[in-house]
Amino acid sequence: MAIASPRELFVHELADMMSAEQQILKALPELQQEAQHAELKRAFKEHETETKGQIKNLQQVFKQLGEQPEETTCFGMQGLVQEHHALHEEDPSPEMLERANLSAAAKTEQYEIVAYAGLIQLAKELGEKDSAKLLQENLDQEQAMAKRVAALTKEIAKEAK
Ligand SMILES: [Fe+2]
Ligand SMILES: [Fe+2]
Repeated sequence: MAIASPRELFVHELADMMSAEQQILKALPELQQEAQHAELKRAFKEHETETKGQIKNLQQVFKQLGEQPEETTCFGMQGLVQEHHALHEEDPSPEMLERANLSAAAKTEQYEIVAYAGLIQLAKELGEKDSAKLLQENLDQEQAMAKRVAALTKEIAKEAK
């Protein structure tokens, strides 16, 4: 389908975000398992629960628009997941794997933050206030997780000294 209007772009970008969240949901159990720091393990676990809610919010947005999400792959998120696999092939020590996973989490959250900000902009532009509200809920969670990851990155680096 040709994308010739902000609404069509919105629907396309929403499907892309749905794919991103689904890929994140699949990746989070592995990150939980690998995490050594108890607080990091907890953060990944809690973000898994949040991610399930974020997917529900996206489904709700599609409902509000009277649209179905098209089958699509978010290549941005696929790239981040592949980087995680590539790092594993370099045989990282547990400590460096922890640091790399923190960095991967930080990159993922920034990606999501920018993506949701763009979606909210489009929702507002289209007068889709209820959709904008649901997307804002997701954005708030991503921002909170980004802060949590940043604080843990500092803490874990300090403990390593
Ligand atoms: Fe998310
Ligand atoms: Fe996230």
